[in-house]
Amino acid sequence: MAYSEKVIDHYENPRNVGSFEKDDPQVATGMVGAPACGDVMKLQLKIDDQGVIEDAKFKTYGCGSAIASSSLVTEWVKGKTLDEAASIKNTAIAEELALPPVKIHCSILAEDAIKAAIEDYKSKQPA
Ligand code: FES
Ligand code: FES
Repeated sequence: MAYSEKVIDHYENPRNVGSFEKDDPQVATGMVGAPACGDVMKLQLKIDDQGVIEDAKFKTYGCGSAIASSSLVTEWVKGKTLDEAASIKNTAIAEELALPPVKIHCSILAEDAIKAAIEDYKSKQPA
């Protein structure tokens, strides 16, 4: 199966690979796994006092589409509020990367990772 040029670009030059200190209260960590293939994606967001995502990093153990999806998402979330980031849909990721149907779950993994990170952030805030 051929990967699209955008997938290959993100796969060969992944943006924002790495991690932040997960105990930092301004850091949100979303860790998700794909039941379909066993791949794992960790997405971390660094959130400023205004609730805006100032930085993002990822580590993904998975296929090229999963790596490209997470790389793309780290670019998309920067400068967004949490609500804006939460509205990023896997369909937009799949469309941008021209993912074939068998690779749609890789983009769903990226959407789920954003949601998991936001949940983590909310759970860290004082009630
Ligand atoms: Fe697991 Fe993509 S199927 S690496
Ligand atoms: Fe499973 Fe890409 S995340 S094939």
